[in-house]
Amino acid sequence: MDTGRVEQIINNHRCEAGSLIQILLDIQNELHWLPKEALEMVREKLQVPMSRIQHTVTFYDAFSLVPKGRHEISVCMGTACHVRGASRVLEVVQTVTGIQPGETDPDMKFSLDTVNCLGCCALGPVMKINEQHLGKLVPDKAGGLLKKYD
Ligand code: FES
Repeated sequence: MDTGRVEQIINNHRCEAGSLIQILLDIQNELHWLPKEALEMVREKLQVPMSRIQHTVTFYDAFSLVPKGRHEISVCMGTACHVRGASRVLEVVQTVTGIQPGETDPDMKFSLDTVNCLGCCALGPVMKINEQHLGKLVPDKAGGLLKKYD
């Protein structure tokens, strides 16, 4: 873990306890997960109880306490996407990445999850890779898109 980078993130928020969620989000974005050592640094610098930190990181889906891949894939399985073939898209994503929802591949390239709605139902089926929403997917298109990621 790059402790210098974590320290810099905390300092950017002036070690303010009121910025706890934003600090954790910034660390999550930087490291793709929240290692125990990072949470300890946050606790010490912000002077907040570890129980409050633990409650926050387990409450929000945006946080992960296990390592994630460089590219996080979320395949929407909500109703609007489901009726337009999301299951077939998910099958192709699983085949191309070699992982199931909830898993990360051994190279730490991809993490895969399913979600219930990505908020753009008219574009279904939809998946999100990192911060990019990809809509109107068909299985072949979804598989081809994944091959562009290193
Ligand atoms: S159901 Fe898939 S984006 Fe809403």
